[in-house]
Amino acid sequence: MAEELILQQGDKAEQYQSIIPQIKAIVEGEPDLIANLANICAALKQQFGWLWVGFYLVKQNELVLGPFQGPIACTRIAKGRGVCGTAWQQQQVIIVPDVELFPGHIACSSASKSEIVLPIMQNKECVGVLDIDSDELNQFDEVDAKYLQQLISIIETSISHS
Ligand code: SME
Repeated sequence: MAEELILQQGDKAEQYQSIIPQIKAIVEGEPDLIANLANICAALKQQFGWLWVGFYLVKQNELVLGPFQGPIACTRIAKGRGVCGTAWQQQQVIIVPDVELFPGHIACSSASKSEIVLPIMQNKECVGVLDIDSDELNQFDEVDAKYLQQLISIIETSISHS
């Protein structure tokens, strides 16, 4: 595995196109889920500099905090609560341009202004979510959803092969 990421400048599509193959190469060589999720958070944080990048994993019918980069965060989220619990319940990507306008948003950090959450699926069940927070409003759109979904597919394949 490469010891250093090559960080790309340019628009966000170019940044995703550079970082995703590098993440794929890291994940393909390692079967351990937590190790892979930890490196994915680090790679995304290094490339994009977002406020918070992390995973919550479904354990005993709750989302429990997994690997992340950024300020400390709430450890458990119930199904249907906050953006993460809603993405889990609805099994769909949620983009929140302004967290103050999302009913029930869980404010782990007062600096968070916008957010995107993507479910991780196995056998048609949500087993976790990727949550990304920005300290800027309107940070996430369909471009992020498209490329982050590619990343989620890499994770889903890795889980199913482990
Ligand atoms: N804001 C999330 C909670 C997790 S933190 O942002 C890290 C939510 O509403 O589900």
